[in-house]
Amino acid sequence: MRTMASRVGILTGGGDCPGLNAVIRAVARRSLDRGWDVVGVREGWRGLVEGKYDAPLGYREISGLLPRGGTILGTSRTNPYKIEGGVEAVLENFAAIELQALVAIGGEDTLGVAARLHEEHALPVVGVPKTIDNDLSATDYTFGFDTAVWVCAEAIDRLHTTAESHNRVMVVEVMGRHTGWIAVMSGIAGGADVILIPEQPITVEQACRDIERRHARGKDFSIVVVSEGYELTYETGKRRRVMQSAPIDEFGHVRLGGVGEVLAKDIEERTGFETRVTVLGHVQRGGSPTPRDRVLATRYGLKAADLVHEGRFGQMAALHGDAIVDVPLKDAVAELKTVPPDWYAVAQAFFG
Ligand code: F6P
Repeated sequence: MRTMASRVGILTGGGDCPGLNAVIRAVARRSLDRGWDVVGVREGWRGLVEGKYDAPLGYREISGLLPRGGTILGTSRTNPYKIEGGVEAVLENFAAIELQALVAIGGEDTLGVAARLHEEHALPVVGVPKTIDNDLSATDYTFGFDTAVWVCAEAIDRLHTTAESHNRVMVVEVMGRHTGWIAVMSGIAGGADVILIPEQPITVEQACRDIERRHARGKDFSIVVVSEGYELTYETGKRRRVMQSAPIDEFGHVRLGGVGEVLAKDIEERTGFETRVTVLGHVQRGGSPTPRDRVLATRYGLKAADLVHEGRFGQMAALHGDAIVDVPLKDAVAELKTVPPDWYAVAQAFFG
């Protein structure tokens, strides 16, 4: 008689980010060591809606994953709750693949679905917090964020030298759909002269005054970092959100991008300083994770495997200070973690 090993599935959902493969490796390694079968579900929740999954992952398949960017499982922004029969299909495929547990690696959207499926259908799922935006509550940091900040800070360093050569204002647009974590951290690290974020929208006029003050002190160039989610805000009270004309995705998000271009024009018109714009875009999400993200992803992955093994479902691995703990999934998705005023104040100390 064949005795079936317990089987855990892993899926990665939402925007990809560096460190996903490191989590997959850690979950699989620890689970395999304990005698579990490990199955990679393809393309996030779509894999469970459509029954797409890989042959079981073994030691050979997870070898070499630690430094690799992207996700070997693929990802999507599929929301089973927005598809007719989607939730039923997830539950049926979960049973058909003979899973006893699932590790969902994702941000607010992917984990929001996980939390609901656990609450409403007792799906045995644990979460791992992923997003370059770092906007998930109940954890100090998500993996992927450090790499994105590193990419942006490096770009800001490079833009400094060319800005200085040409006496230009350089506007750098970075990601951050709802929050300014990437802008604030990379701006502090790169020595930005003004940083504009969604949570604390200073006006365009104020940004121009900061730049003019700096130039009056004899600095002929400036670096301005802006989050893609910053709403252009003017002293007249007018506000303008810049987005691309794309349809809303299954989680209700518009496609952002382009605020840097409008801001650069505004700055040039108001200050008379020659201005250029750089949009860093998906470069922030690609490539190899930093050592910090590799370590964080690895610790999260081991914790998720432990939670599965202990049958502690509905929980998410989280970082509190230096410790890896677990928190209820529903707490992590209850609200966004925004940049607190004291973090923004650190950046503001160097404006102008
Ligand atoms: O949520 C992560 C993120 O990178 C956001 O910062 C950004 O707005 C969005 O994803 C971009 O998504 P897409 O990959 O669909 O262009």
